Amino acid sequence: MPKAKTTEYSNTAKWLHWGMALVWMSSWALGILATHWRDELNPHHELTFLHKALASTLLFMIVVRVAWRLKNPPPALPDHMSGLMKQGAMIGHILLYAIALIALPLSGWYWSSVADKPILVAGLFLLPPLVAPDPDLYDLAKYIHTWTSWCCGALVGGHLLVAIKHHFIDKDDVLAGMLLKIRR
Ligand code: HEM
Ligand code: HEM
Repeated sequence: MPKAKTTEYSNTAKWLHWGMALVWMSSWALGILATHWRDELNPHHELTFLHKALASTLLFMIVVRVAWRLKNPPPALPDHMSGLMKQGAMIGHILLYAIALIALPLSGWYWSSVADKPILVAGLFLLPPLVAPDPDLYDLAKYIHTWTSWCCGALVGGHLLVAIKHHFIDKDDVLAGMLLKIRR
């Protein structure tokens, strides 16, 4: 008998996705609050410390996630999607991995290294500098991290809208297949 096509992500894939999504979205919000409400909320760089401590954990989680993902393919996308839409979904996921989950934390690490500022991963241990401190590169590093973070905000916003469209307009199982099923 042919095997039924699975539409559900495995539990490991779901925990990796939602764990990293939560850390990512909290880091993004902390970055914005730390920079744009500096006087009101971040007078002693408390939020900057939290932002770096939380966001830097993504550098470790992504290694586990990519290693696991390379051995475990995701479920098939629904049949109603055209070949072009399926390709679009794949490119979107590759961009999320490459830019939001790899390049963005790397750019923050680069900026702090250039600025000679410490990064205490999860508040537990120091991340070694990626490059030697260099005041001449400070503005460039800041520009790269800031712009990448805003582009990624748009990318994740688009990802969220597509997930909502799948559920409420296409009425398929794409979002349901990523939701954690909590059993009592
Ligand atoms: C090793 C990881 C990271 C380090 C060391 C880092 C470092 C920093 C620093 C020093 C700032 C400036 C904060 C301030 O001026 O008070 C900042 C801003 C910011 N970061 Fe990160 N970051 C990292 C990862 C991330 C990640 C993963 C995200 C997204 C989830 C992110 C999003 C932002 C945003 C949105 C801002 C504010 C940009 C603006 O000025 O509008 N960062 N980051
Ligand atoms: C509330 C926010 C989010 C929702 C509702 C959501 C929903 C989903 C859903 C339904 C999928 C299944 C596949 C598909 O879209 O076709 C998925 C996959 C994915 N999501 Fe999210 N997501 C959210 C936040 C995030 C964030 C913040 C990131 C990373 C920055 C992220 C990264 C990914 C990646 C890389 C995949 C592909 C997984 C794979 O097949 O390897 N997601 N997401």
